[in-house]
Amino acid sequence: MPGINFGLNRQTLLQNMVNNSVAIIPSAALKVRNRDCEFPFRQDSDFFYLSGFTEDDAVLVLRKTDDKSESILFCQSKNKEMEIWTGFRLGPDAAVDALGVDRAFATSELSKCLPELLADIQSVYALWGSDKEWDQKFIQAIEQVKLKVRTGITAPTGMLAIEPLLHEQRLIKSSAEIDLMTQAAQISAQAHIKAMQLVKPGMFEYMLEGEIRHHCAMQGSRFDAYTSIVGSGENACILHYNNNDEKIHDGDLILIDAGCEVNHYASDITRTFPANGTFNTEQRALYQIVLDAQLAGIEQVKPGNNYNAPHEAVVQVITQGLVDLGLLKGEVSELIAQEAYKPFFMHKTGHWLGLDVHDVGAYKIKGQWRDLQAGMLLTVEPGIYVAVDELTVDEKWRGIGIRIEDDILVTDTGHKVLSKDVPKSIDAIETLMAAQ
Ligand code: GLY
Ligand code: MN
Ligand code: MN
Repeated sequence: MPGINFGLNRQTLLQNMVNNSVAIIPSAALKVRNRDCEFPFRQDSDFFYLSGFTEDDAVLVLRKTDDKSESILFCQSKNKEMEIWTGFRLGPDAAVDALGVDRAFATSELSKCLPELLADIQSVYALWGSDKEWDQKFIQAIEQVKLKVRTGITAPTGMLAIEPLLHEQRLIKSSAEIDLMTQAAQISAQAHIKAMQLVKPGMFEYMLEGEIRHHCAMQGSRFDAYTSIVGSGENACILHYNNNDEKIHDGDLILIDAGCEVNHYASDITRTFPANGTFNTEQRALYQIVLDAQLAGIEQVKPGNNYNAPHEAVVQVITQGLVDLGLLKGEVSELIAQEAYKPFFMHKTGHWLGLDVHDVGAYKIKGQWRDLQAGMLLTVEPGIYVAVDELTVDEKWRGIGIRIEDDILVTDTGHKVLSKDVPKSIDAIETLMAAQ
């Protein structure tokens, strides 16, 4: 399988940049977890997309002038003593061949080199406004160039957002990216199956979290794409619950939202299933609505439909279902117009998926939902959450939280569900769980 062509990613961005411009993309930084210990390092997705380089303390500069386009990497210099403590560093000398950049320097040279790279450049692309410290460093470099204008050098006059170029580029996945995301979704799907097979009332939520990570690691995934959500009982109503520290009780539904990364590419899957293997009457009724809504939403994923088409289909099915069960009262079309479903379904139906679990790319163009096109990847993840204090509904519905989430690739003719291997019909889930 061909890997990601990081050189092509740089070349495409350079082609789309205006003439006489520079783009500056820093790596992620290490973050302290507690004294002398850092969180596991995760490379910045933009930086990774353009370099494939996984070290911290690095900066990529893309420079485009009338006669030349080049990529310049700043990375940590070799340091025998530091490498004994924290591991191998590629170093600038080896970086040129290893990463295919045109030039490489030590990061300690950045403040000296950046003004030189900005001389006679008109516009500077960066993620302006997302990191104050970097903004300041880039502005300082521009100021340094301005100090030299009497020597005939011109300083940049334009600060351009890089997002419209870089993030639109990232939105359409290459076949190599789709392969990685397919692997991630397949591994995560099997991990969800494992959780359904292993769960027993009396276990703690974090034990399922551990089983999922173990399975993904054994299948070659080093990291999760986000902190797993394992919510039993009423915890399933907390959208981004990740305490994962409560005991699972007989009769609970368990909502697991978990997905691994493969080579930095994410998967994002949610399944909801009964701790004891059998849905009770209320759980079954609400679950079927969410499933029907999800299937209706997925059906809308095709080129030419707009991004919001799945959400509109989902809202229709959920509202109708809540009326049928008596949780909402009134005309479906009026309830939709009033957004009466929102106390039970308060989030949108999905998001882009890619290097970031909530991936980049605009959702609207000039105020209108954009059209889906082949190579885009998104989630479809409706839910119904009945809060324990939702006094407008009969007590029997309260404390039930359900979400079903799959990863959907837009293809030339429609869509492909990358996470299809994990069961989601009531029968299929109960059959799988009964087989234990
Ligand atoms: N896992 C976070 C989400 O589904 O958006
Ligand atoms: Mn999710
Ligand atoms: Mn999601």
